[in-house]
Amino acid sequence: MDRGRPRIEKGKRSFSFQDFFKLINQVHPKYWQLVVGTLAGLIATGANLIVPQFAQRIINNFKHLNINLVIITGIVFFGGVIISALSVCILGVFGEHVVSKLRDSLWARLLKMPVSYFDNTSTGEISSRLVNDTLQVKNLLANTLPNAITSLLQFFGAVVIMFMMDWQMSLIMVLAVPLVIFVLLPFMRLSGKIGRARQDELAKFSSDSTNVLSEIRLVKSSNSEKKELATGTKRIAKLYAIGVKESWINSLMQPISNMLMMILVIGILTYGAIRVMQGTLTMGALISFLMYLFQLMGPVIIISQFFNELAKTSGSTERIGEMLNEPIEVSADNQKVDIAGKELKLQNVSFSYEKGKQILHDINVSAKPNTVVAFAGPSGGGKTTIFSLIERFYKPTSGKITIGGQNIEEIDLTDWRKQIGLVGQNSSVMPGTIRENLVYGLGRKVSDDELWHVLKMAYADKFVKGAEDGLETQIGERGVKLSGGQRQRIAIARAFLRDPKILMLDEATASLDSESEAMVQKALASLMKNRMTLVIAHRLSTIVDADKIYFIDHGTVSGSGTHDELVKSTPLYAEYVHNQFKK
Ligand SMILES: Nc1ncnc2c1ncn2[C@@H]1O[C@H](COP(=O)(O)OP(=O)(O)O)[C@@H](O)[C@H]1O
Ligand SMILES: [Mg+2]
Repeated sequence: MDRGRPRIEKGKRSFSFQDFFKLINQVHPKYWQLVVGTLAGLIATGANLIVPQFAQRIINNFKHLNINLVIITGIVFFGGVIISALSVCILGVFGEHVVSKLRDSLWARLLKMPVSYFDNTSTGEISSRLVNDTLQVKNLLANTLPNAITSLLQFFGAVVIMFMMDWQMSLIMVLAVPLVIFVLLPFMRLSGKIGRARQDELAKFSSDSTNVLSEIRLVKSSNSEKKELATGTKRIAKLYAIGVKESWINSLMQPISNMLMMILVIGILTYGAIRVMQGTLTMGALISFLMYLFQLMGPVIIISQFFNELAKTSGSTERIGEMLNEPIEVSADNQKVDIAGKELKLQNVSFSYEKGKQILHDINVSAKPNTVVAFAGPSGGGKTTIFSLIERFYKPTSGKITIGGQNIEEIDLTDWRKQIGLVGQNSSVMPGTIRENLVYGLGRKVSDDELWHVLKMAYADKFVKGAEDGLETQIGERGVKLSGGQRQRIAIARAFLRDPKILMLDEATASLDSESEAMVQKALASLMKNRMTLVIAHRLSTIVDADKIYFIDHGTVSGSGTHDELVKSTPLYAEYVHNQFKK
């Protein structure tokens, strides 16, 4: 099974604030919220830093308790708590806004991407970007960054105050804290590395499983459950191994940091107790010192993990940025053109899906209004590709397609596609009801009478009436609850409703049994009336009835004309017809 190019690579992991903010700026975040939230965080931190000072005074003057001081301390303490909660709330709202804007713009971009993008990128990967990477970017902006800023204040604030209170005791701390970090650093590094590995592995897992689940019929019909089970199990095992490693590291990191912390506290307490007994330190100062000590540890951990977060986000930033920079389908000029009654021409059109592998070579085709033009030829010759070019799913590499002499690229894309109807071999449907599928993308109100009318024209009214809920019948994902012929007739009813100026049929009855085929053929015959029809034919009768036939072989037009002309002029065609339709 083709999984698309695996694009979830390691990538360059050095974080660039410039790239990050360039990306973020595109969604115009409400920066004032970030500023207010961070400021509130800083104020709360300030309150945290002041409280031990008050506590020191209260403890030292316990016998002559100053009620006012207690009240002020209470106000500062609870005020700090409330402001801190406020800060978390504002930053949360800010972050949610950013993530939703990012998803909005990614989604809008995605829908406008050309078909070629989806040829090369797997659905699982796209959804991983849409869901996970946006979340990661938000986390950095709304959590990690503000936390780092307040942590810096908390750390340096605490250190400065401690030095002002008692430089000797602070010196012990200043020497001890780097020691603690030094011991913990390898663990943190490792844990960061593992975090990234897990993210990559998770992305691969979700991408793989999405791809497999969306083709579950193929998996089952080709008996590849075992293979997919093995692939999935391998991925899950990898995730497990990563998780085990992570819990090992955490299990070591927790007790080690606790132990170091305890040693530090006991050391300070011992030294402090001696100083208190000597009378060179007040009891209040010692306790407030310990309070600062605890305040130091949080920021140290947050700041040391900051770089891990940056590294993680750098991948996400890169992937989102890449997606937002993909070229989209351009709809030139917004020029609306009525294409009815005009001649369609492909002039010297060449095309390749991938560089270096040319599919169409110098194709010249012309289709007059109100005629049926058939394309015939061996499979893989490039017939569907020609239709895709007319639909403007892809652009010709050279040459042009014109309608009434005007290059179709000059016509508004929406307007153009509105005027052409495509019924393919396996018509696509959306999950939903029959009604929803009929009016999908139509953009106007349609009465039930009209719906039944087109269903009748498409010979689909009987089975829809017979269905349990009529027009409201659910057809299931990819229309699995309909037969192939029913799906085709729904597609034809859709086409009737749209009343396209150009109708394109790509082997519309090829996958049907002969009974459904007859029915669909009848429906098509009435749909083809009064419009230009391009038909990729696999039935001799369709070809013989066509006004003009193009024989497409290896990406070139090797002959054109009516059936009788072609049989005489193009031996390849005669041979093809003979092989294909000898019955
Ligand atoms: N999306 C695609 N990306 C790359 N190559 C493609 C794509 N679609 C079709 N091709 C190639 O283009 C050639 C013509 O295919 P197609 O137009 O579907 O032929 P036909 O409809 O005549 O059977 C084939 O060799 C096929 O492999
Ligand atoms: Mg085809």
